[in-house]
Amino acid sequence: MVREWDPLTAPATEIASIVALLNEAMAADLPDDPLWLDDTMREYLAVTMPGERKKMWLAEENSGDASRGIPPLGQANILMLGDIGVVEVIVHPKARRLGVGRALLTQVVSCAREEGFSALGVEVPGGTPAVEFYSKFGFTCAFTEIRSLLSLSAVDWFGLGEMAAGIGSGYSIGFYAGGPPEELYTAYAAAKAEVRESYDLGDLELSPSSYEPQRLRASIETLAARGLKLYVVVAVHESTGDVAGLTEVVVPQQHPTRADQYDTVVVPRHRGYGIVRAIKARMLFELRSAEPGLAEVQTWNAAINEPLIRVNNELGFVPDRDWLEYEIDVADLAARLGVA
Ligand SMILES: CC(C)(COP(=O)(O)OP(=O)(O)OC[C@H]1O[C@@H](n2cnc3c(N)ncnc32)[C@H](O)[C@@H]1OP(=O)(O)O)[C@@H](O)C(=O)NCCC(=O)NCCS
Repeated sequence: MVREWDPLTAPATEIASIVALLNEAMAADLPDDPLWLDDTMREYLAVTMPGERKKMWLAEENSGDASRGIPPLGQANILMLGDIGVVEVIVHPKARRLGVGRALLTQVVSCAREEGFSALGVEVPGGTPAVEFYSKFGFTCAFTEIRSLLSLSAVDWFGLGEMAAGIGSGYSIGFYAGGPPEELYTAYAAAKAEVRESYDLGDLELSPSSYEPQRLRASIETLAARGLKLYVVVAVHESTGDVAGLTEVVVPQQHPTRADQYDTVVVPRHRGYGIVRAIKARMLFELRSAEPGLAEVQTWNAAINEPLIRVNNELGFVPDRDWLEYEIDVADLAARLGVA
């Protein structure tokens, strides 16, 4: 039984049932990842960026199981952003290889067709059954990142202090909880846009980034509304007022022991002054005080982004696993799944 499901209006018991499903899947596929807490999970599942939409479905053995506290057999969702639909399908470990994933994917592709999307993308953790699942239905791997993990207990804080201080003169570094200060918005968005233009890694852009001030503001508000606490460190070039570099970390209320390091960028003309080491090192110092419960930071880098990977290694990040972006044409997938 597959039914459409709206986290915004769902009863709390259903949210708890979804959390149980996600945690059972997590324990099976990524056993070293922290489990989800049922804290602002409704907001995490329901809130999207302005202009984006999400639809979700549940597969249950008997209709209404989730509202009786029974974890559903699976859930799927599609995030409709720009011209691509981002898919997620998660099936309870006890219900795998029975066609539940296929049934959920069929719903997703029907929706994508109705909504006029021509392509779908999905993020797949390497070394999990999802690789075989999406390959089976014709998805192809378009881009590979490496996820790395840093344990705060293993950090060499003395060495980190030297990195934080080792920045060329003429730059000032600031740490801000909740996003950059108002007066830096325009320069901050410009730095992100400039780096993105200068350095196309070839990814599918499955997670939105913000290249102009209005979108940046919306994205920061959306993070807060989803229960994700944003911290940024910004290097400003004092004589021009340029944002020369920035790094962003998000601490999710839903798994507050592990933070996600999002974007780290240094504008090309400001490279070679020690900025990337300094801002990333400063971030770790600040997180240690701002988030005493934090144990780890995870980050994702393109395999070709060697300079950043080298700095991450110096900071103490250890490669964990591949993280793959798969894609497919909606028409091809619909044909394979027999969607009329
Ligand atoms: C990937 C996933 C959704 C598949 O769900 P499922 O219900 O088992 O999939 P289906 O039964 O519909 O399988 C369809 C086909 O996919 C392929 N497939 C699925 N799992 C496979 C596996 N472990 N090995 C090889 N092929 C597999 C098979 O061809 C299968 O058809 P078959 O069983 O007739 O041979 C499920 O394993 C899952 O939830 N994985 C976790 C997803 C995830 O993102 N985890 C990380 C965060 S928690």
